[in-house]
Amino acid sequence: MTIELPTPDPKPQTRRKFLRRAVRGCLLGGVGVLGYAYGIEPHWIDVVRLRLPIAHLPDDLVGRRIVQISDIHIGESVADSYMIRALASLAELQPDLIAITGDLMTSRGEEQIEHTLEVLQHLPAAPLGRFAIMGNHDYGYGGGYWKTANRLTTGLTDLDVRVLRNEVADVAGLQLAGLDELLFRRCLIKPTLRQLDPLRPMLALCHNPDAVDQPGWEDFQGWILAGHTHGGQCKFPGFDPPITPVWNKRYTSGTFDLSGNRQLYINRGLGYFHRVRFNCRPEVTLFTLERAETV
Ligand SMILES: [Fe+2]
Repeated sequence: MTIELPTPDPKPQTRRKFLRRAVRGCLLGGVGVLGYAYGIEPHWIDVVRLRLPIAHLPDDLVGRRIVQISDIHIGESVADSYMIRALASLAELQPDLIAITGDLMTSRGEEQIEHTLEVLQHLPAAPLGRFAIMGNHDYGYGGGYWKTANRLTTGLTDLDVRVLRNEVADVAGLQLAGLDELLFRRCLIKPTLRQLDPLRPMLALCHNPDAVDQPGWEDFQGWILAGHTHGGQCKFPGFDPPITPVWNKRYTSGTFDLSGNRQLYINRGLGYFHRVRFNCRPEVTLFTLERAETV
């Protein structure tokens, strides 16, 4: 008598194989994404080109180029080789003016100042000047160290980078207002902006975009260039970044229309505090100046 054995069902094997492949695929995909977010994107610079219309702009400034960089975080976070290459490459954009909107270093206290200044020697020249403002990290990330920011300011001045700390500079007729850091209550908006002549062209630099929601902007109309958020550093396509260091979560990166005929631009930063970026490449912004229509 022959006993017929039941034919094994091929489905469980196929299902098992499929699951094994899916898990393997997910693991490989995960490793790939991590490798990309750590090894490639943090150093893959995106040059964003924008027009910057400013009311009353004199003829001499029409067509001139402002290069904005922000959050370069030299020191404990960023690879020097990357930052030196990035700064040197700005020369290719032929900037007339360079604006650094804060967080030049990552330093607990004063220990990274000399290092920061050494790396910044690779910043190209700009005929209309090189300007910087202080970010929260420029005070040392223990926070609020006035002496650290003062020493960095002195070093930058020696390097021919003018630091605007609640001051207005005249750049060939353009009033360039630089605000100091908001988080340590150094940001004096009203006294700084009161120095502006409303009938002349103006542009403001402030590190933390939350400053635009503070009182004191009544005398200001036009563009404000900011940084601080790093664009969130990681985000899923089509979604806002889950983490941004701002009170107003609307301020992520890019252009925003504000009240009182003001516009805000938030640069995603060139460096990083933690080396990871996903769908949020480091940014250099190249603005071309043009005259805005006035009513
Ligand atoms: Fe920063």
